[in-house]
Amino acid sequence: MKQLDKHVYGPWALVTGASSGIGEEFARQAAANGINVVLLARREERLKEIAAALTARYDVQARVVAVDLGRDGILDPVTEATDDLDIGLVVSNAGAGNPGPFISLPRERLREIVQLNVITHLDLAHHFGQRLAKRGRGGIVLVSAVAAAGGLPYMANDSATKAYPLNLGEALHVELRQAGVHVTVLVPVLVNTPVVARIGLDKLGLPAELISTEQAVDEALTSLLANQVSTLTRTDMTAAFEDMKGAVVEMIQARLAAAQPAH
Ligand SMILES: NC(=O)c1ccc[n+]([C@@H]2O[C@H](COP(=O)([O-])OP(=O)(O)OC[C@H]3O[C@@H](n4cnc5c(N)ncnc54)[C@H](OP(=O)(O)O)[C@@H]3O)[C@@H](O)[C@H]2O)c1
Repeated sequence: MKQLDKHVYGPWALVTGASSGIGEEFARQAAANGINVVLLARREERLKEIAAALTARYDVQARVVAVDLGRDGILDPVTEATDDLDIGLVVSNAGAGNPGPFISLPRERLREIVQLNVITHLDLAHHFGQRLAKRGRGGIVLVSAVAAAGGLPYMANDSATKAYPLNLGEALHVELRQAGVHVTVLVPVLVNTPVVARIGLDKLGLPAELISTEQAVDEALTSLLANQVSTLTRTDMTAAFEDMKGAVVEMIQARLAAAQPAH
């Protein structure tokens, strides 16, 4: 596990999507470094369980903010919960996908994904970017996806939204460097979390092995500490995307066909 300097990345870290998968592991690794955590997601009971477990195991403080990050106005509950805290690390990780033929999906649902996968990153990076720059130290991790490398049929809106945290992070990596703030982008390829099955991917049929959440977070923190722009170069990202695109599209189409009512 990576050693995080509490003076730089503590005493508090904020993690979105902390109720599951990659976000839960970010929170665990921060807490294991003795950093207090603010945990955000929609499922309050799950967040409370995680907060209690981290407090008991690592002797840190944990605050829970149950919030739907797919709605506008998220900075109100976030600032209310964090204005009195000295936050050194922000992990903007929460995200979701909504596979299906673009023109058949409800526009309202597509807009919620844009709110979650785009506007929430904007709001958090802007608000905490200002705070961290004023503080003169700290880090921001933005979580994108390998699908940011190109348009993914049947996840058209999702892949488009994932380009936002990638480009935002690449630019902020340079802008905030002078202020002493490290910004990096985690570009997950395939990580073993509930989202894989939810999207309709069959682990066994995928061209690449799923990595653990521990490994994904380790890669992100390695990149953050070394002040690298992202966990994958653009060239490697494009290669990984091209390797899996065909298989992923086939699996999603098969899942969609199986879900169609028989005529
Ligand atoms: N796993 C992969 O292979 C993979 C690949 C590419 C990109 N990613 C990205 O990695 C990030 C983490 O995903 P994961 O794999 O860890 O999936 P996950 O286990 O499903 O976790 C997603 C997290 O986001 C939260 N979330 C989703 N919608 C939300 C909303 N409207 N408001 C607040 N929180 C919300 C969920 O919490 P609640 O349900 O409690 O709200 C959960 O904590 C996402 O941005 C995802 O797109 C993952």
